[in-house]
Amino acid sequence: MILLNKTALVTGASSGIGRATAKLFAQEGATVVVTARRQAELDSLVAEIETDGGQACALAGDVREELHARALVDVARERFGGLDIAFNNAGVVGDMLETTELSLSSWQEMLDTNLTSAFLGAKYQVPAMLERGGGSLIFTSTFVGYSVGMPGMTAYAASKSGLIGLVRGLAVEHGARGIRVNTLLPGGTDTPASITNAPDATPELLTFVEGLHALKRMATPEEIARSALYLASDASSFTTGTALLADGGVSISRT
Ligand SMILES: NC(=O)c1ccc[n+]([C@@H]2O[C@H](COP(=O)([O-])OP(=O)(O)OC[C@H]3O[C@@H](n4cnc5c(N)ncnc54)[C@H](OP(=O)(O)O)[C@@H]3O)[C@@H](O)[C@H]2O)c1
Repeated sequence: MILLNKTALVTGASSGIGRATAKLFAQEGATVVVTARRQAELDSLVAEIETDGGQACALAGDVREELHARALVDVARERFGGLDIAFNNAGVVGDMLETTELSLSSWQEMLDTNLTSAFLGAKYQVPAMLERGGGSLIFTSTFVGYSVGMPGMTAYAASKSGLIGLVRGLAVEHGARGIRVNTLLPGGTDTPASITNAPDATPELLTFVEGLHALKRMATPEEIARSALYLASDASSFTTGTALLADGGVSISRT
């Protein structure tokens, strides 16, 4: 139980990587505040965690809203006494269109959901962690735009690369006061957001995407959750300001 006596906030917890991470953090002893927009999915996650003997509470809302970012931290303080870990993971891939075809509203939606939400999260999470004498902030980025350019994904890449600058700034702003800040960069992961699970996806597309990775497969959400656990826990106590690839070698594969 490496997160015993810790309280963690997990965004994007209704599905995929966030859901798996909330469950893993709870299994490792953390009390967990979970959020996303879909209340029913959050309720079933809380029920699962409680059935397993853990403690969790849900607050549904939109990560693009400042009031929601503040309310989440208030819930962590009121229900569990404070905040030690924040996994800011909610994100969308958005419209996959070439840049010249992309609307300003699509671009803006991607930046709001993937990047501005991270700023809003940090703005309220950092003071709460300082009250506890430190903590660990983690943001979910991606290899797309970091190590690989992908057509039709420029807004996604720009929003997720922005997280890396945000993290480096936050890490030096607050490192002296015990706060570590890192980004996690998953490779292709088998979640509803993956293009391999789109309604028009074919077995050939899955084989193609798997083949891009050195490991010749995609990750499970649980594998990415274990990397988030590393960044959340004292196992990474001297790690801050980094972009941690958990990408199955998609960044280095050329075969
Ligand atoms: N799957 C991959 O291959 C992959 C690879 C690299 C990085 N990532 C990143 O990993 C993160 C998790 O994605 P996933 O693959 O686990 O996809 P997912 O299963 O679709 O999960 C996305 C989560 O984000 C939440 N979300 C989206 N927009 C939101 C909003 N405006 N307000 C609140 N919550 C919102 C969704 O909840 P609601 O719909 O209930 O609001 C959902 O819980 C994302 O940041 C994604 O970019 C994924």
